[in-house]
Amino acid sequence: MPLILPAGTRLVAATHNAGKAREIAALLDGRFEVLSAAEAGVPEPDETESTFTGNALLKARHAAQRSGLPALADDSGLSVTALDGAPGIFSARWAGPDRDFALAMRKVETRLEEIGATDFSAWFTSALAVAWPDGPAVVVQGEVHGHVSFPPRGDRGFGYDPIFVPTGHSQTFGEMDPAAKDSMSHRARAFEQLKGALFD
Ligand code: IMP
Repeated sequence: MPLILPAGTRLVAATHNAGKAREIAALLDGRFEVLSAAEAGVPEPDETESTFTGNALLKARHAAQRSGLPALADDSGLSVTALDGAPGIFSARWAGPDRDFALAMRKVETRLEEIGATDFSAWFTSALAVAWPDGPAVVVQGEVHGHVSFPPRGDRGFGYDPIFVPTGHSQTFGEMDPAAKDSMSHRARAFEQLKGALFD
């Protein structure tokens, strides 16, 4: 199976967010010519799967089939043990149409209060999938474990970063130097695995 991507391959990043497409190009060490889904004229599919890997594969396959080029997609989120893994694959949706993560973080806190939780353990997941137009695909998953802490602290990250403290650290991802976050994040771990799977 042609699972090795030669340097210089044109690759579609299955996202309409140009910033995310650039970030993906950089995380792949600039080895590929990365087009966003918008540039490749690929619409965004509904995320109908129930797992991070399922949704990443669905988005990558959809973009590969529509564009005729290899495609890379990601799916990520925060899972809280005491909430049975919520918000999980619904992490973006908990922030509502206004992408209000202060609201989403309050929702996590309120749900934990409602059940009188004593276990605050949580983890971030990043699933990455690459699919080829003729069918084969590869999917990997990276995680970083820790706990959630309230009130939110720090304004350096995005999303749920201000409430997540990785194991062995006292700062939240929102307070941490971005380079420190990048050295241990779920996304960095997933990209390391993906590079191992794709690069010769
Ligand atoms: P998606 O993968 O683009 O569907 O979005 C996943 C959601 O999870 C985003 O809205 C983020 O807020 C959240 N998320 C994923 N990774 C991180 C992270 O590194 N820090 C904070 N929030 C994250």
